Amino acid sequence: MKPIKVGLLGLGTVGGGTLTVLRRNRQEITRRAGREIQVAMAAVRDLNKAEKHNGDGLKLTTDPFDVVNNPDIDIVVELIGGLSPAKELVLKAIENGKHVVTANKHLLAKHGNEIFAAAQAKGVMVAFEAAVAGGIPIIKAIREGLTANRIEWVAGIINGTTNFILSEMREKGLGFDTVLAEAQRLGYAEADPTFDVEGIDAAHKLTILSAIAFGIPVQFDRAYTEGITRLTGEDVKYAEQLGYRIKLLGITRRRANGIELRVHPTLIPEKRLIANVSGAMNAVLVMGDAVGPTLYYGAGAGAEPTASAVVADLVDVTRLATADPHHRVPHLAFQPDALQPDLPILPMEEVETAYYLRMRVADQTGVLADITRILADSNISIDALMQREPEEGEPSTDLILLTHETLEKNMNAAIARIEGLGTVQGKVTRIRLETLGK
Ligand code: NDP
Ligand code: HSE
Repeated sequence: MKPIKVGLLGLGTVGGGTLTVLRRNRQEITRRAGREIQVAMAAVRDLNKAEKHNGDGLKLTTDPFDVVNNPDIDIVVELIGGLSPAKELVLKAIENGKHVVTANKHLLAKHGNEIFAAAQAKGVMVAFEAAVAGGIPIIKAIREGLTANRIEWVAGIINGTTNFILSEMREKGLGFDTVLAEAQRLGYAEADPTFDVEGIDAAHKLTILSAIAFGIPVQFDRAYTEGITRLTGEDVKYAEQLGYRIKLLGITRRRANGIELRVHPTLIPEKRLIANVSGAMNAVLVMGDAVGPTLYYGAGAGAEPTASAVVADLVDVTRLATADPHHRVPHLAFQPDALQPDLPILPMEEVETAYYLRMRVADQTGVLADITRILADSNISIDALMQREPEEGEPSTDLILLTHETLEKNMNAAIARIEGLGTVQGKVTRIRLETLGK
């Protein structure tokens, strides 16, 4: 059988890694795919930078539309990133009847519905394994491996950069900026690293996971997003003293009245495997009603781990290229006419979770009673309490409370009342807590 021809858009960290893996494992990959996967063309901005990839008849261009309009190309692999011109290129490739592989979670979280509808209408595939959790085959696992299950929730460490920052700060005592610069050097960070540290990249990925877990359209604009920039070393330390680790977690959960979709720093019991995932590694925990909890772990970023997912998609597309489109796996796991656009994404106020609260309180009688009364009035039950012994002559001290689950709006109201007490100084720090047990 003649080779299937691939056009790469971008030869940076992931594009370069994809070319390297395809070349190094050519024979194994051909034996699996049934025909050779040949990269015929690649688009970059700087031809000099791309020179190192020359060879095997690879044609380079600075105009990515040369690739998507080339009639010899069967599969376009979009590894440029960002929204424009990536969106125009992907839609043009689809219009031209080409299959698409992309690692671009930003693009899919924002414009996935339009892109999947266009691909469906044209009978082509858009594959996106690399868009979530780098080298971990989580899309395949949820879309195919867990297809018997009613998924209850998905919780994941799905941003390598922030997990790397949190781990290096905790384990080596390094500063935030130093570790972020290292993540950039290693090719983990997004072009705009605020996407990583503010939780936006994780929310892009979670939006995709939520869509394939529950059969809903991608709805990034409804995701709640909070990053790691406001986390302090003392909260990390107090959490550890209470038996927890703090991770930037993406959580999507089915509730009776809708779907939770949220990214924020989260306390997790240290006994959970996922609490011990360090460095740029990712892990995703999926709860299915039949299978129970399943955990997927691996490298969430970097050239070859991400290339591993891109190449897996290339093999899938190659195998299915000649299949009747109706026999392929639906883009969002559920048949397009069976998606549930009316299932609401719950506003953060309606989310139910447990909490870690830290406040600076005056070292005097009655303070604790006032605070616990406010929580009791709001129907919030306390799970643990820790008060730091004040230093000699120190007039105030830190009070740390862990609560059981409550609605976020109840907690907001309770925090407002606590902050109004004359004995509580400044703002209450609130970090959400998930036991991830059921
Ligand atoms: P890089 O910045 O390393 O590479 C981008 C590539 O695209 C470069 O070769 C660049 O060319 C080229 N490019 C950018 N704009 C254009 C354009 N208009 N025309 C032609 N070429 C262009 O990005 P990454 O490889 O890190 O990321 C690519 C995608 O993969 C992104 O969507 C990212 O979110 C995603 N991703 C990245 C992971 C990672 O670990 N890095 C992991 C998972 C997903 P030049 O160098 O000449 O400017
Ligand atoms: N910037 C992303 C991360 C790359 O750090 O996880 C992988 O999607």
